[in-house]
Amino acid sequence: MISILKSFAIVSISASILLAAPAQKQNKELQEIVQTGKESSKLLLKTLGKNMKAHMKKGGPLDALNFCSNEAYSLTESVNKKLPQGVHVKRVSLKYRSPANQPKADEAKVLKAMESLKDANVVLPKHFVEKVDEKVYKFYKPLVINKGVCLKCHGDVQNKKLKNTIEQRYPNDKATGYKMGDLRGAIVVTIDKSAK
Ligand code: HEC
Repeated sequence: MISILKSFAIVSISASILLAAPAQKQNKELQEIVQTGKESSKLLLKTLGKNMKAHMKKGGPLDALNFCSNEAYSLTESVNKKLPQGVHVKRVSLKYRSPANQPKADEAKVLKAMESLKDANVVLPKHFVEKVDEKVYKFYKPLVINKGVCLKCHGDVQNKKLKNTIEQRYPNDKATGYKMGDLRGAIVVTIDKSAK
């Protein structure tokens, strides 16, 4: 009986050593994903935010709207050029304004999961990580309507001229009617480990 117990203990110790190595590797990989995700999403937010602020100041919401619709996409691509190989950043929303920001099926699933968490009064974490396959991860940074200024273009739009311009440029716009604290969408950073 004792010898059975002993060999059981030895087996379980070696099993835990065997398991620990991949777990550590996995952990380190995840840390790298989060780090890359944080840096890339920050760079995009900073780039878009800085330009948007400048246009708001210069010409008000109409000027800023023109800036967004003309340049948000190319600015995002310019950020992508600065990122390492295999890393790509974009914005997505279930209620997107620009068709370029329509989420893929897996991304829509994650956004819906975030919505349900919010509905259950969960304070959203700063980020989520989706493991797409052995080599590809997606890092999500939730974007919440956290400033009054967002509502000028995404709330109940009051300014007639602004409203008309939005309707003209985005006939299928889904991105109005938001309130403070609502989930607007997310930044998605796709990280492909096989690209290095
Ligand atoms: C001056 C008008 C304006 C303001 C203010 C504004 N947005 Fe937008 N937003 C737009 C336009 C136009 C687009 C579509 C073009 C683009 O950016 O890709 C957009 C797109 C987005 C998208 C991408 C998803 C989609 O719907 O296409 C997110 C996310 C977003 N805005 C969040 C915000 C947040 C958060 C704020 C406040 C910090 C904000 N916006 C303030 C005009 C505005």
